[in-house]
Amino acid sequence: MVDNSSNFLKWERKDLVGLRNLTKEDIELLLETAASFKEVTTRQIKKVPALRGKTVVNLFYESSTRTRVSFEVAAKRLSADVINIATEYSSVKKGETLNDTGRNIEALKADLIVVRHNAAGAAAMLARHVKISVVNAGDGWHEHPTQALLDIFTLAEKKKKIKGLTVTIVGDVAHSRVARSNIWGLTKLGAKVIICAPKIFIPAEIEKMGVSVIPDIEQALSESDAVNVLRMQFERDEKAAFPEKLDYFKKFGITQKRIDKTNKDIIVMHPGPVNRGVEISSEVADGPNSVILEQVTNGIAVRMAVLYLVSGAKENSGQDGA
Ligand code: CP
Repeated sequence: MVDNSSNFLKWERKDLVGLRNLTKEDIELLLETAASFKEVTTRQIKKVPALRGKTVVNLFYESSTRTRVSFEVAAKRLSADVINIATEYSSVKKGETLNDTGRNIEALKADLIVVRHNAAGAAAMLARHVKISVVNAGDGWHEHPTQALLDIFTLAEKKKKIKGLTVTIVGDVAHSRVARSNIWGLTKLGAKVIICAPKIFIPAEIEKMGVSVIPDIEQALSESDAVNVLRMQFERDEKAAFPEKLDYFKKFGITQKRIDKTNKDIIVMHPGPVNRGVEISSEVADGPNSVILEQVTNGIAVRMAVLYLVSGAKENSGQDGA
């Protein structure tokens, strides 16, 4: 029997817009709650009544497969009603602003908005304009908190700890909300984070986030327990001089040869979508070190935990946790 009621009472944030402003204890509470919901996902009847009578609206201004479906599955497993808004068929096309759309969703008596947007800060802004809970499903280059939580959850399952681990994040860190949320989450929990990328993908003063930069992928892997592989996000910056795909693969691609050279049981993660032969070989993506599909599965339990905790927070405290 899942009993998360004490966790529910400990959570005081209306929204989840990022990991930067969460405490180590907040993140641990989310991961602990996710672990108990994971048990639900293994049952024959994968449903609990925790959000019965609540309505979750998925408001996605950008394309998504994993995050959108996984939030929908998570909400349904908590017995919530779920409405998906595809913005290309909504009044967004007629010029309605994000805040007006959010306030109308609130007026329609929804309880929670899950939002993905191409502008950094969109989720936080929406959270300030509505009284109902807002969960960030990715905002521009800023944060993708539930992705980082499911990455950390999967890593903790495999390595039985986070504190003391070393994780390399390789690839297009500059355009990556996944990288930023992972850095905040992992460092708060006591992991060491290495960034490995061509100079063009390394944000200025990244070391201020508590990470180290190792430009050589083989050296970075040799020091790591896990590697999180990012794709090049061409859609985020049309003017940027992205490296040639083949050249990038040669210098930074995660290949079986590079994994074998470490002589370690290194965990290979990727938030998806995977560009095979660009940032990772198919042999690694589908191989024994890869946990890519386990990350996707764990996304359900993690998002159940997030929806469950934020849905009760406003009744508990009325605080804005953004
Ligand atoms: N990882 C991730 O955000 O994937 P989607 O874009 O498919 O949701």
